[in-house]
Amino acid sequence: MSKRFRRKAFLFRVCFLVLAGQVLLLCHRWAEEEQQEHYSVEILPRIHFTPAESNLSLKSSSALITEPSFSSGSQRRDELSDTLWPADTFRNRTLVVVLGSLRCGEAAWKSLYRNVLDVNNADLAVITQAKPKSDNSRHTVSLLQRAKYVWEVPSFTDWADALDLMAGGRAWRERVPEYYTDHESGILGGALNYSGSGAIIFWYRWFLTERIRELNWKSRYDRFVITRSDHFYLCPHDINELDPYFMWVPQGQTWGGVTDRYLVVNASNVLEALNILPPLLKNPSRYSNYLQRKVNTEHFLAMRWREQSLFPDKRNKFPRTMFVCMAREDALTSWKPLGIEVFPGVFTKYHIEFSTSQQACRMSRQERLDFIARKSNLLPT
Ligand SMILES: *[C@@H]1O[C@H](CO)[C@@H](O)[C@H](O)[C@H]1NC(C)=O
Ligand SMILES: *[C@@H]1O[C@H](CO)[C@@H](O)[C@H](O)[C@H]1NC(C)=O
Ligand SMILES: *[C@@H]1O[C@H](CO)[C@@H](O)[C@H](O)[C@H]1NC(C)=O
Ligand SMILES: *[C@@H]1O[C@H](CO)[C@@H](O)[C@H](O)[C@H]1NC(C)=O
Repeated sequence: MSKRFRRKAFLFRVCFLVLAGQVLLLCHRWAEEEQQEHYSVEILPRIHFTPAESNLSLKSSSALITEPSFSSGSQRRDELSDTLWPADTFRNRTLVVVLGSLRCGEAAWKSLYRNVLDVNNADLAVITQAKPKSDNSRHTVSLLQRAKYVWEVPSFTDWADALDLMAGGRAWRERVPEYYTDHESGILGGALNYSGSGAIIFWYRWFLTERIRELNWKSRYDRFVITRSDHFYLCPHDINELDPYFMWVPQGQTWGGVTDRYLVVNASNVLEALNILPPLLKNPSRYSNYLQRKVNTEHFLAMRWREQSLFPDKRNKFPRTMFVCMAREDALTSWKPLGIEVFPGVFTKYHIEFSTSQQACRMSRQERLDFIARKSNLLPT
């Protein structure tokens, strides 16, 4: 009898431990997904230019407010084609824009071509940092060969130099720190001595808005997909399934605001959706609330969209089909260690993204459409 009881007690303990383990795992995932206060920030790898390699002496000269010479070789190809090619050459009405450092590598980029560009007949633009002349790897990077437009921006060591271009001068350097009393606030991270990466990721958005204006892309393209180079797309992402009335972001990674890693936006809203930092540099007192405490980029992005009536009504979510990935060498420059190797040489960064994309990719097309329709309030929940 007592032997049976002991066995029962043992089994009970095993069950309890297994359950507790599951609960802990769930909590961990939930925390990774939603926790806002203890977010970590990502510093993009920086390449330090010596003056000999780069003639952008932004630092040494306060008079240098003019735009530095951005390389735009493949852009010229396109300008030419505008006049030389028949009008119906430009059937592609979607532009996919990859912003930031080139990471994760060929496997991820092939998934972009197959599951995003080809599915949507999209053109590709890449805005990334220049590499030292000695680095020849550029020529073998398929992403840059595939892109119709490429801009290589200077590799700023202090992104305050980049913000000078955005603000049209250096006056903000006096004005903003007066209000920026919590240096842990991530909004201008990467500039001056602020932690985080907000200055970097939002500066790229500003740079893109300038190109959209300059090249009149609002009339050439109907829709824009704003993404980063280290997304791995597990299955086809057909943006025609997403109502253009809304701006679409994938589910998850909200960090108390709205994810800043992927956006599908109609031409009518693209400039507003990308206009995040310029008003802060002009009028920091208006945003002092956000500069006096630890605020992450997701939170600030949601606030700026709210200010422009894009959030929450114009923001919608689709089932996530992509995850941020890392290659082995990315671990050298990342605050986050390599996750799990899910394909040869492809590691997860936030494992939860991989699980949710796997789930979404197993849905039938109809199930995905139903999900999206519910999100658009077209169907009852
Ligand atoms: C800046 O660099 C470009 C390309 O490397 C070169 O053509 C140009 O002459 C340089 N300008 C100056 C002022 O050194
Ligand atoms: C249109 O998009 C497809 C798929 O990305 C691409 O292969 C093709 O070259 C593009 N066409 C033009 C004219 O850019
Ligand atoms: C950051 O820089 C400002 C002036 O630019 C200075 O007043 C402040 O003490 C610095 N903070 C830290 C934490 O280094
Ligand atoms: C999308 O943008 C185009 C171009 O600006 C506009 O004509 C169209 O009405 C917009 N569609 C929606 C649903 O907002």
